[in-house]
Amino acid sequence: MQHLVAAGQLTPEVLTELIAKAEEYRKLLETTDGRQQLRALYPDKIIATLFYEPSTRTRLSHESAAQRLGMGVVSTENAAEFSSAIKGETIEDTVRVVAGYADAIVIRHKETGIVDRAAAASPVPVINAGDGTGEHPTQALLDVYTIWREMGTLEGLNIVMGGDLAHGRTVRSLAQVMSNYKGTSFTFVTTPQLRMGDDIKQLLGERGVSFTETNDVHAATKEADVVYWTRLQKERLEDPTLEAGFVIDEQVMAGMKEKSVIMHPLPRVDEITAGVDADPRAAYFRQSHNGVYVRMALLDYLFSQK
Ligand code: NCD
Repeated sequence: MQHLVAAGQLTPEVLTELIAKAEEYRKLLETTDGRQQLRALYPDKIIATLFYEPSTRTRLSHESAAQRLGMGVVSTENAAEFSSAIKGETIEDTVRVVAGYADAIVIRHKETGIVDRAAAASPVPVINAGDGTGEHPTQALLDVYTIWREMGTLEGLNIVMGGDLAHGRTVRSLAQVMSNYKGTSFTFVTTPQLRMGDDIKQLLGERGVSFTETNDVHAATKEADVVYWTRLQKERLEDPTLEAGFVIDEQVMAGMKEKSVIMHPLPRVDEITAGVDADPRAAYFRQSHNGVYVRMALLDYLFSQK
């Protein structure tokens, strides 16, 4: 794996290795000695973060991960306006240039598939931090790590995904990754306009992974081990009047299994009420913090390859 552009690259073998590394880094970060040890690991590396779309967690956690490992960071947070893209530079030219300034490039872009093009042109590792309605593999990485930490296993889980499954890239990447584990089943809570893409459903079919589609939040979440909720991707909708209308509130939580977990890639808008936050099963803030450990593990993985 030279670049990470698609969730399909995150096989169970790779994930086992990355999760073990993330756990190791998490422990080291608990002590001053450990932190200093980590800072000494990669003082010779610099990463660049090129974000053509808004981000809080993904950019900052990549940058934090890099700095925790002693790396330097160069960054443009609004590459769509502040980089030469606005002058008409192609992504290929941009990465060729940035590869002279950094040893790895993290890219988020509104255009699906563009990060593959960037990777093809780049002599240094490229990490896909979200491409349009395509993929978000590092989010899938932190999601899997969170599921493993919260549930103690990655097998035999009924995963309920809800919200905007048509335009959300996190659910597309996570569904692919979790479909590799024994006994996974999916319930997609959605409306006809916001359904999970046929390409993902076809992949699940080929892998013999069962899935159902429903609009009944209560019935679906009752049987869930993992509830993965998402916001309506308003910025990607052709029809701005669309609503998902699926809300997780305390009443829904009351019907859920005691051993289950509720996740969200964040940002949350109004699809999980604030009243849910204090529930021990609400893992979304823990989930967002897990992003640093797995991104440290990923950077280490990409830089330690021959
Ligand atoms: C997600 C994204 O950008 O796809 N955010 C994130 O990276 N945690 C989800 C979203 O924006 O809804």
